[in-house]
Amino acid sequence: MQHHLKSLMGIDRNSQFATRVIILSIPSALLFIGLTMLNFLTPLTSFICYIIIIIFNMFSLFPISYELQALRKYIYSLASEQNTAVDEIKLSEKDAQLLADAINSIHRFWITKTDTLQAQTISDAAVLDTLPDPILMLDGEGNITGGNLAARNLLGADVISRRIDAVFSTNIFINAIDKILKGKSESERLVFQAPEYHNRRIYAHINKLPWFSKGRAVAVISLYDISKALSVEKMQSDFVANASHELRTPLSVISGFIDTLQTSAKDDAQAREAFLNIMREPADYMSSLIEDLLSLSRLEMSQDQVLKDKIDITEVIDDVIQALKIKAFNRSINIKMIEQPRLPKIIGDNQQIHQIMQNIIDNAIKYAFENSEITVEIKTVPEIPAGKGIAVASGKAVSIAVNNKGPKIDKENLARLTEKFYRMQIHKDMKIRGTGLGLSIAKQIILHHHGNLTVNSTTHNGTTFTIYLPVKR
Ligand SMILES: Nc1ncnc2c1ncn2[C@@H]1O[C@H](COP(=O)(O)OP(=O)(O)O)[C@@H](O)[C@H]1O
Ligand SMILES: [Mg+2]
Repeated sequence: MQHHLKSLMGIDRNSQFATRVIILSIPSALLFIGLTMLNFLTPLTSFICYIIIIIFNMFSLFPISYELQALRKYIYSLASEQNTAVDEIKLSEKDAQLLADAINSIHRFWITKTDTLQAQTISDAAVLDTLPDPILMLDGEGNITGGNLAARNLLGADVISRRIDAVFSTNIFINAIDKILKGKSESERLVFQAPEYHNRRIYAHINKLPWFSKGRAVAVISLYDISKALSVEKMQSDFVANASHELRTPLSVISGFIDTLQTSAKDDAQAREAFLNIMREPADYMSSLIEDLLSLSRLEMSQDQVLKDKIDITEVIDDVIQALKIKAFNRSINIKMIEQPRLPKIIGDNQQIHQIMQNIIDNAIKYAFENSEITVEIKTVPEIPAGKGIAVASGKAVSIAVNNKGPKIDKENLARLTEKFYRMQIHKDMKIRGTGLGLSIAKQIILHHHGNLTVNSTTHNGTTFTIYLPVKR
């Protein structure tokens, strides 16, 4: 009868509704039994009254039981619902509604707390992603449980599902990880070579995480690729070695002559005169080398200088040609300028732009055929051609093409002309003087101005160096 009653009322089987109705009716039943026994009531009227009381109890208990059940369902829906948009419950029983309100306020608190935690997690990940060096998180078994953007870029997006010893297998690294995971050490630092990643030399910093750290991670690894720094160091020491070597050669020539002048040629006035003349050349070479080295170091120091001179490029080129006139005349070379009318001004460093033009036109005179013509053509171009691995300014630019007649330069040489100290063998053999620094200085200045330098060489038309410098509006 209980089950029928419950399902009839739309109330769950396991609710105590019917039991409560019957228990609450027991005192009345006893009262009616007593009254019947004392003959105050007939058994029939007593039974009818009892049934009325049961129905009355049923109706008075029904709303509260029903709403409690609704409330229970509502709480379950809050707990299971992933989205936070559950409609708040409205109940007619005051006590049940108060309970619902209390639950709602817990629910709202929980939503804000979850939001804050979620935002915190996202911002933590975003902060890690902005770090330039790779960072990996490990669990107690050596599985990678997380990695920042730099790590995913270096090791691949699937790195998070791999084991650390499958990513880097170098022994000293794996041993250091082992020590941390086994709790034998709190922090390890080491440099190792990674055959998996082009043999790069990597500095690793491994730290055990405090027990309360988020997720399953127990250790964090930061990696620094030190190959680049090492190669910069090598470049610097190569540069010093090259510069010293270049200075030593002329210096030994000069010392040699000094020895001769002090000994065998001591009293030979004619030889003395000749030797002093010969010594002029290495001395000049040394001073131009030192001049170029100083230019390079000045350039390196002015990397972040603000470029603000308004430069009339034609004027600069006129000055340079004027200064090199005698040199050109000695080789019977004529220099022709072709300029587009109304050229815009260049924003840059006047002295540096002067130096580019000086170095390039000086080369053209030195390496041109004797008795030939050099042309310098200046015009505007809509865009600077892009270069490999360099950032050029966008928009209008001025191009200066310096052409001289001479043998075609092959591809291998062409690619190396702007390297520091690089000189083509044929020019060394021809005993044309030079430091091998002029083009690298020019290139460095051009890059500093966000321009570009291109070289072209053909058998028929000789060699053309084209300088692009941006025009800022
Ligand atoms: N206009 C040119 N024609 C042919 N070769 C050139 C020209 N300009 C430069 N080179 C080659 O590039 C090398 C490097 O030039 P640069 O850096 O100016 O050094 P330098 O002129 O002191 O030798 C030169 O030694 C030469 O071999
Ligand atoms: Mg030169």
